[in-house]
Amino acid sequence: MPTENPFQDPLRFERRVPECVVVIFGANGDLTKRKLLPALYRLAYDRRLSAGFAVVGISRTPLSDEAFREKMLEAVKQFSEDTKFDEDVWNAFAGGLHYVAGDIGDPALYQELATKLAEIEGSRHTGGNVLFYLSTQPSQYAPIALGLGKAGIGKGNGWRRLVVEKPFGHNLESARELSDRLHEVFNESDVYRIDHYLGKETVQNILAFRFGNGIFEPLWNRRYVNHVQITAAESIGVEGRGAYYQEAGALADMIQNHLLQVMATIAMEPSASFRATSVRDERSKLLRSIRAMKPDEIRENTVPGQYGPARIGGQEVPGFRQEQGVNPESQTDTYAAVTFFVENWRWAGVPFYVRTGKRLPKRVTEIAIQFNKAPLAIFGDTDGDGTAPNLLIVRIQPEEGISLKFVSKTPGSGMKLRPVSMDFNYGSSFGERSPSAYETLLLDAIIGDATLYTRQDMVEASWTVVEPIQNVWKETKYEFPNYAAGTWGPAAADEMLARRGHVWRKP
Ligand code: BG6
Repeated sequence: MPTENPFQDPLRFERRVPECVVVIFGANGDLTKRKLLPALYRLAYDRRLSAGFAVVGISRTPLSDEAFREKMLEAVKQFSEDTKFDEDVWNAFAGGLHYVAGDIGDPALYQELATKLAEIEGSRHTGGNVLFYLSTQPSQYAPIALGLGKAGIGKGNGWRRLVVEKPFGHNLESARELSDRLHEVFNESDVYRIDHYLGKETVQNILAFRFGNGIFEPLWNRRYVNHVQITAAESIGVEGRGAYYQEAGALADMIQNHLLQVMATIAMEPSASFRATSVRDERSKLLRSIRAMKPDEIRENTVPGQYGPARIGGQEVPGFRQEQGVNPESQTDTYAAVTFFVENWRWAGVPFYVRTGKRLPKRVTEIAIQFNKAPLAIFGDTDGDGTAPNLLIVRIQPEEGISLKFVSKTPGSGMKLRPVSMDFNYGSSFGERSPSAYETLLLDAIIGDATLYTRQDMVEASWTVVEPIQNVWKETKYEFPNYAAGTWGPAAADEMLARRGHVWRKP
């Protein structure tokens, strides 16, 4: 028998996909239609799912299995942009799609689900393995878990796991409370809190880049890194989600979860192995090293923003306060910029500038690591920009890749210097499509690999740094709107960097 390699998690390297049923609560919602079903269909198309794989959709609207399959067929055709539709694959996949209608608060729903699961287990030999996926209003997460528990389906003869969508709580206390309620039925090791940014191929590649190469890690610290900028810009507005967004705001919607996880991946210590526990321990440790700021530091190191109306490309674009479902005097942030500090030996004193916003000039997510300048400007008297600092840019979307900027001599006589770029581009280097974040994460949850899922301690660590910021922002009356739709956010965010002699990149 081969001995187990302690440095390789058999789950990640052998990837045997077990039989199972995925139960989706919120099957009539946007996420199911746009992301979950297209991702599951793509996994079927790539022959990644087991033969008996099945889905049970749950929602209030009464629908037959047949009508649910029709709806999902439309969704798959509409939202599987880069997947060829294959009739045979669809027919085999659709044979496993079922639907149960009911009210989350009604015990009868869970009884009906239990009967359905028993039927499927008999006919499709799914071994009692069930992945429950909560894609409903957050207020329903705990009642669903308790409903499953009471009906006796939170445990079973196979494994039972629970995937929970964001937001996970709206502050530290509510996040803790929610974990406590879920733990009444599911062990923490069976709770998969999803953060789709961790499933993005380029975010995973940060680990390969940092820990699979020998030349970058020695530079990855306060001696060489001047500062880090993490940008997640969106050109869209709130797209009909005004009512949700008004409660959440950019800080809670993007920074508390996605961007702090990205920052943790960039800044964490090397993990002892690629096992889920090791990687998550290091991410968690990093999140716990971020300074939770006091109110006066918060006023200095954070900037909220809200977009106002503008004319973009000949079209009138409404301001946030004019969006449907939004209070005309809303104080919600549609833009957030924060300077974080990591209090450990590697990063002490290095600012991590993190920003996100709706209605910025373009959709782009990137991490820029700016290194210190050369210690001596011996080309200082020559023409051109011989003093530009080295910059490493990890592009997460839309074009995935990594670039290193350095200065070079321009051809010709004399010493004229100019910044140039060494580029790695995912598309052209590998020539194959990257799986969507939801494909990666759903498959991981089915396999039982939690490496890319967030754990209770990480969620609590992020709320610990975000909640004090939320509190100061709530108490302060900001002059909103403070940036016009289609621009790079409020001037105060530029000033925040200027105080340390830095400027935001214009990606
Ligand atoms: C979601 C947020 O979690 O992430 C949205 O709720 C945001 O407001 C989205 O638009 C961004 O995801 P992506 O993958 O398009 O960058």
